[in-house]
Amino acid sequence: MDKIIVLDFGSQYSHLICRRIRESNVFCELLPYNSPISLIEKLEPKGIVLSGGPSSVYLKGSPKPDKKIFEMGIPVLGICYGHQLIVDKFDGKIKRFDNKEYGYADLVIDDNSDLFKGINKKIKCWMSHADAAEKIPTNFEILAHTDNSFSAAIANKDRKFYGIQFHPEVSHTEEGNRILTNFSQTISNAKPDWTMQSFIEFSIEDIRSKVGDDRVLCAISGGIDSTTLAVLLNKSISKNLTCVFVNNGLLRLNEETIVPKLITKHLGISTITINSEDRFLSKLKGISEPEQKRKIIGEEFAQVFSEVTKEYGPFQWLAQGTLYPDVIESGFSKGPAAVIKTHHNVGGLPEWLDLKVLEPFRSLYKDEVRQIAALLNIPNEFLKRHPFPGPGLAVRVIGEVTDDKLRIARHASSIVEDELLISGWYDKVWQAYAAVGDDLAVGVLGDERVYGHMVTVRIVESLDAMTADWSRIPYDLISKISNRITNEVNGVTWVTYSVSSKPPATIEPQ
Ligand code: XMP
Repeated sequence: MDKIIVLDFGSQYSHLICRRIRESNVFCELLPYNSPISLIEKLEPKGIVLSGGPSSVYLKGSPKPDKKIFEMGIPVLGICYGHQLIVDKFDGKIKRFDNKEYGYADLVIDDNSDLFKGINKKIKCWMSHADAAEKIPTNFEILAHTDNSFSAAIANKDRKFYGIQFHPEVSHTEEGNRILTNFSQTISNAKPDWTMQSFIEFSIEDIRSKVGDDRVLCAISGGIDSTTLAVLLNKSISKNLTCVFVNNGLLRLNEETIVPKLITKHLGISTITINSEDRFLSKLKGISEPEQKRKIIGEEFAQVFSEVTKEYGPFQWLAQGTLYPDVIESGFSKGPAAVIKTHHNVGGLPEWLDLKVLEPFRSLYKDEVRQIAALLNIPNEFLKRHPFPGPGLAVRVIGEVTDDKLRIARHASSIVEDELLISGWYDKVWQAYAAVGDDLAVGVLGDERVYGHMVTVRIVESLDAMTADWSRIPYDLISKISNRITNEVNGVTWVTYSVSSKPPATIEPQ
């Protein structure tokens, strides 16, 4: 299978480059920036992408790739920091400018013969840099510019080296996919033969050969990832599979009854339900720091799995529906990406648990899993459900998790979801919920002064959870949601609507 390699210089978006290239059915792998040439050559890539990153190329010790990648005779595309690396490597000059470019910029295309083939003269692109080229290297020409970057895209067409200052991998850049497809398929000549059907076939074999006669415990939440995983495992090693659903007291309204029913009814996979609300909630008492809450929940899940193993085991494997974004944002990526949040299912299991981890989706993105789910005929009830974080409502309750705040978050969130379903907005957005913290505000309910909670409604649109934008739902719908929350959820006096995109915010507040 033809492949493109992305060298990761630490950008939060590095994995997205990989994902976008895979979307156009070309297999793509992410490697650390300092991968030795021997490894890269062994993989026989058709092209290499140098990702963005937080460093400055002119600083001592800044990350650099093996120089020999430029002698392999294959195309190289540098993105942001990667672009600056190319400028620096070939005797151009990079420096810090006062006019930093963050956010949208108008990209004017001066040459649309190869990298920008089939693209309009002017597109919106997403910039995120403080450094830029002061002088481009000899033998390079300019392909595109913005008001602030005279060399927003450059190329040495003879050697097929390209550098772009903006991020084609984020959804904010118009025609970003086409730019990456032009690079991978036209310039690098990689065949588009990577599909989710081929992934399913490969995974079934891979799971069988890894697991052998061992027994697998699969934790399912009713979300699309773990459900799809359970179905895939059922296809691969059904006799040796046991599924468990843990009610940790942090679930959405009525989920503890809905999910096991859905799984049994539609998938025919028998599932053990463990009710352990009290122990999760008592461990969270007095804890308000978000990372600490996540760690406690992760540890408690491990305890529960250990008890399930004693009662229903032995098991040798624990299967989890971990995805690529969970891995990236937990800082366990192969590159130098910073830790944003510790996703409890990514940190690895404690040694005492003595279970090996099976994570077939670790390199996949949500929409790739959705495609797999559709190919496995998983019903819409699962496919269309919004993602829900592993630590559940604990990350939507800001500060300490109390019964009262849980009640408010749970009830108010169900109103948000209800109203989106009624109005037809549910399927158009990525996630929608109501969060609550300790901020109180004065209200008047039935002529009486009430000092109640402020609730924040957050509805976001996203393709992959790596970036997101707040959803412009109609004012009337916001108003209806707000009225229902203050009328129906005891103790709420104010409703606010979150208008932060990711970045700089994240989707969940904790
Ligand atoms: P953030 O808040 O980091 O969330 O922008 C990105 C996406 O990931 C979900 N999320 C999690 N999923 N375990 C999960 O399985 C977790 O610990 C976790 N934390 C956040 C979040 O709901 C959003 O879709």
